[in-house]
Amino acid sequence: MHKDVEKILYTHQEITKKCQELGKKITDDYQGKELVLIGLLKGSVPFLAELSKYIELDVTFDYMDVSSYDGAHSGSIAIKKDLDQPVSGKDILLVEDILDTGKTLTTVSAMLKEQGAKSVEIATMLDKKEGRLLPIEAKYIGFDIPNAFIIGFGLDYNEKYRNLPYVGILKEEIYK
Ligand code: IMP
Ligand code: MG
Repeated sequence: MHKDVEKILYTHQEITKKCQELGKKITDDYQGKELVLIGLLKGSVPFLAELSKYIELDVTFDYMDVSSYDGAHSGSIAIKKDLDQPVSGKDILLVEDILDTGKTLTTVSAMLKEQGAKSVEIATMLDKKEGRLLPIEAKYIGFDIPNAFIIGFGLDYNEKYRNLPYVGILKEEIYK
């Protein structure tokens, strides 16, 4: 275990098992549809890679990088990298590492619907429900987690720890 980790919440094995379950559900739910998996950079990449292995459909991938502003205009985001392909008429599954306040995904979902997406759903590896400021829920949830600072399997603190093969709680002394 990395020295900055307080506690491992989910091991690589547990995450893989969860991805198999979610992948099966997604496979059943999107039979006969043209599904686009949209990963939000950078944190979603390990989860998207794992999850997509268990989706037995002809999916395509696209990526977006957005940053959210806190302050007066809650929910406004800047697009740092936009999608390569139009979403119009497509079934979209937004894939995220963690759903916290809900600001990012609320704004991105609204944007994609405005661009004519046929459907927009969310798959999140982690759901920090206590952090929610906007009424948004994911259709596919890996794990419900407590209100702590989480790192690993894509999640960072100052861009570090994304490569850890597990999800864990960061020691308070690192960010306090
Ligand atoms: P929100 O739902 O708009 O607040 O944004 C979720 C984003 O905040 C995620 O994509 C993460 O980048 C970041 N985030 C929220 N909670 C954590 C955490 O515990 N560890 C690392 N990043 C987090
Ligand atoms: Mg993120």
